[in-house]
Amino acid sequence: MATHETPVLFMDRSRIRENYLELKKALPPFRIAYAIKSNSHPEIIEILKKEGSHFETASVAEIEKLLALGVKAEEIVLSNPVKAPQAIRRALEHGVTIQSFDSVEELEKFKEFSAPIGAEEGGLFAEKKDGLPYIRPQLRIVVPNEGSMWPLSGKFGADEELWPAIFQYMKDNNMRLDGITFHPGSQCETIAGWDSALYLTWRCIEIAREYGLNPTTINIGGGLPVNLGRKIPTAAQVGKVVIRHLKEWEKKGFKPSNLIVEPGRFISGSAGYLVSRVVGVARREKTWAFLDCGVFTGMMETIDGITYPMLFTGTGEKETAMLCGPSCDSVDKMYEAQISKPKPGDGILFLSAGAYTSVYASEFNGFLGPKMVFLDQIADARELFNLVT
Ligand SMILES: Cc1ncc(COP(=O)(O)O)c(C=O)c1O
Repeated sequence: MATHETPVLFMDRSRIRENYLELKKALPPFRIAYAIKSNSHPEIIEILKKEGSHFETASVAEIEKLLALGVKAEEIVLSNPVKAPQAIRRALEHGVTIQSFDSVEELEKFKEFSAPIGAEEGGLFAEKKDGLPYIRPQLRIVVPNEGSMWPLSGKFGADEELWPAIFQYMKDNNMRLDGITFHPGSQCETIAGWDSALYLTWRCIEIAREYGLNPTTINIGGGLPVNLGRKIPTAAQVGKVVIRHLKEWEKKGFKPSNLIVEPGRFISGSAGYLVSRVVGVARREKTWAFLDCGVFTGMMETIDGITYPMLFTGTGEKETAMLCGPSCDSVDKMYEAQISKPKPGDGILFLSAGAYTSVYASEFNGFLGPKMVFLDQIADARELFNLVT
């Protein structure tokens, strides 16, 4: 049996597929656009492509990676609300038309690619502007991010006071608004996160209409949580709230023709099992357990409160230890946890670690992030300890 050096991130192929299908069942009218920022390994992209998934990107590099893997441009959305002007153009040259914005300043960059207000959606695909397809602007709005363990509203999003100025600019410049988008915050652990976001979305739709703008796309971002040891809503529960809002909108005469959800963590997170080892222990004012993975080698999210359910090879008496990475930087601290009294060589396995781990890893101090190993199915996580040296 092949053995792998730690740190190693085992990925469960069938779990990726199951997560996708679970979400499809929960949100049947939605296009699922997997957020490749969470884990952009080509195997994941291939698995999801076969299931019919679309993809969410933040950069031209991500778009080009997908195109090289045979994903079609119309299956890609660019949801980064602030982009370099060349990136907007390059994405359009590739045929990626759904692009987000959250300010008048970003809209100024969109102006030259914009379709006129009232342009028919069918015509949007048929007609080109100077050889490029029309851009399909999605206004990213701020929503409360309540219950999110990794909020995303600090840096991005237009809040309510800004909507009138944005819509006035679009009206004055005859720019078509294609859609409205939000992100409830990553690892959103309460249904209320979607409920409040969708109430705000409706308010935004109503105001847009007052300016003669008629968005046809609603993109609810990501945020679906994975099991990090607390109670979380299921995809079905999230789906129920979302569908309820859509039905209420329909009663009021609004039926978006294009619905998008952009899960990252929900698809890749629970499929990942990160196995690391204790390289050293220091018992000082507290116990420090130094692992071969840390903040710079995949566990970046721990610096802002994310913790993972864990399994250990060590047995017996437990001790509270500060888990830290192998680098010489004191930022490289993860979190305190009750673990079996650590000693060098002990294995520690982090569950639900497939998202936002490998992609964040750097080569700081020469310590490399986890190598990824794909297995068809992982039935018993403990067995993975037998696959590492
Ligand atoms: C625009 C956008 N969409 C989707 C995602 C994926 O979010 P999550 O991993 O919480 O599903 C992110 C994450 O940062 C994002 O910024």
